[in-house]
Amino acid sequence: MSSSPLHLPTSQAYDLWSEVYDTDGNVLQQLDDIYISTTLPGLITPNCTVVELGCGTGRNTLKLVEMGAGKVLAIDNSRGMLEKLSEKLGGEGEGRVETFEVDLNTFSSDGVGITTHDGAAEFRKSLRDKEVSGIVSTLVLEHLHLRTFFSLAASILPPDGWLLLTNMHWDMGVISSAGFLDPTTGKKVKPVSINHNKREILEEAGKWGFVVEGEMKEEGIRDLEHAKGFGRRAEKWVGVLMHVGVVFRRI
Ligand SMILES: C[S@@+](CC[C@H](N)C(=O)[O-])C[C@H]1O[C@@H](n2cnc3c(N)ncnc32)[C@H](O)[C@@H]1O
Repeated sequence: MSSSPLHLPTSQAYDLWSEVYDTDGNVLQQLDDIYISTTLPGLITPNCTVVELGCGTGRNTLKLVEMGAGKVLAIDNSRGMLEKLSEKLGGEGEGRVETFEVDLNTFSSDGVGITTHDGAAEFRKSLRDKEVSGIVSTLVLEHLHLRTFFSLAASILPPDGWLLLTNMHWDMGVISSAGFLDPTTGKKVKPVSINHNKREILEEAGKWGFVVEGEMKEEGIRDLEHAKGFGRRAEKWVGVLMHVGVVFRRI
C-alpha cells in the first residue's frame, strides 16, 4: 500500500533530501550531467565569475571550479544542501567559491531593488566589484515562479552574459515533480513544484532580454536499451521527455 507524499516547504524538503541527494540514482541528474558536460566547457573562460542559482550540494559548483572559473557565487536556501557543498569544498575550491544561504524569492520582484534579507544583501555586496560572465542554474526552475527567476538573472547579468539553465521537462512535469524517498521514514517527500512549459519559459525569458543561443535540448530515456545506462530507476521513464537544457544570451 503506498501512502501519500509528505509535502514540505522547499528548503525543508531539500534539508532532508541532502542526506541522499548525491547517491540516490536520480535519472534526471544523470541526464543533467550529460548536458552540462557538453555545454559548460564552451562557456567558461579563464578566471570568469559565475553565479550559481540553487547550487544544492555543489554537483556543478565543483565542475565550475575545475573548469577554471575564478569565482563562483553560489546561492541556495537549504542549509542541508549547502553543508554538503562545504564538506566537498577544500583545497581546490577554497577562496574561489562563496556560498550564500538565501531564498531566491526574497529578491524583490524586479530583481533589482533593495531587499532587507541579510544573505541577499551580502550577495549583492559581493557582486559589486565583479563582472559576472554567466549564471548556472540546474534543476531549480521548477521550484520558482518564472518572473522571480528571470528578473533576478537579468539583474545579475550584463549584456552578452550567458545563462545556462536546465529543468525538469514539462512532459515529465505533467506526471511527476521533484521528490525523494526518505530512507529513514520510507515516505516520499516533495518540495513545492511548478510545471513550466516551453512557451511560458521562452516568453518570460524574452521579457527580460534573454535570447536562446543554439537550441533547447529536450532529452529522455529512449528505450529499455538506453535505460540500462541509467540504472533501474530509468525503466519507468522510457519514452518520456525528462530534461530540458538551454543556453540564453542576455541582449
Ligand atoms: C534539484 S536541486 C538542484 C541542485 C543543483 N543545482 C543540482 O543540479 O544538483 C534544487 C535546488 O534548488 C534549491 N532551491 C529551490 N528553491 C529555492 C529558493 N527559493 N531559493 C534558493 N534555493 C532554492 C534547493 O534547495 C535545491 O538545492
